[in-house]
Amino acid sequence: MPVQAPTVLIPADALARRVLALGEALTGRLRGARAPVLLVLMDGAFVFAADLARAIHRPDLELRFIRASSYRGGTVSSGQVGIEPVPDLHGRTVVLVDDILDTGMTLAAARSATLAACAGEVLSCVLLDKPARRRAGGLATADLVGFTIPDRFVVGYGLDHGGRWRQLPYVGAIG
Ligand code: IMP
Ligand code: MG
Repeated sequence: MPVQAPTVLIPADALARRVLALGEALTGRLRGARAPVLLVLMDGAFVFAADLARAIHRPDLELRFIRASSYRGGTVSSGQVGIEPVPDLHGRTVVLVDDILDTGMTLAAARSATLAACAGEVLSCVLLDKPARRRAGGLATADLVGFTIPDRFVVGYGLDHGGRWRQLPYVGAIG
């Protein structure tokens, strides 16, 4: 069966440039922070985090991964979020890294779990922001945002639809 590729919304070269700029910005924000941690929300953020981590100039940066799942039916979020236990983060500066800020429920839950693990300061960095979809109880804004996008379902560069399209080098829209 022929497969229709998603329409390009953000090409690979624009992603690369923006991720480098986010890395520079985070390098600045983390100046003076003790043993900073990138806490990456899996699975969607795996490509973004791999590029972002290499754009942050901190030899003592630690990378940790936790699985977060917002239970969705197709392209619609239910608002219920499951978060894996967060490692002990005593007094450390933590940057939550996610693919997209949609309703904000995932990042709100991840932020609470991170603060409960005794993190000193919690920042959030997302590749994409869909402000039109924010819900009460969700994280209102991220500290660092790659691109603000319209309310379309996007895939690629780690983002999936039912497990597909994560490997696309660009961000594309489906539907
Ligand atoms: P939130 O909890 O509604 O903010 O949703 C966060 C999670 O939903 C993200 O980490 C993504 O995994 C997923 N998500 C939200 N919007 C999209 C989209 O347009 N494409 C793919 N995944 C999405
Ligand atoms: Mg996802």
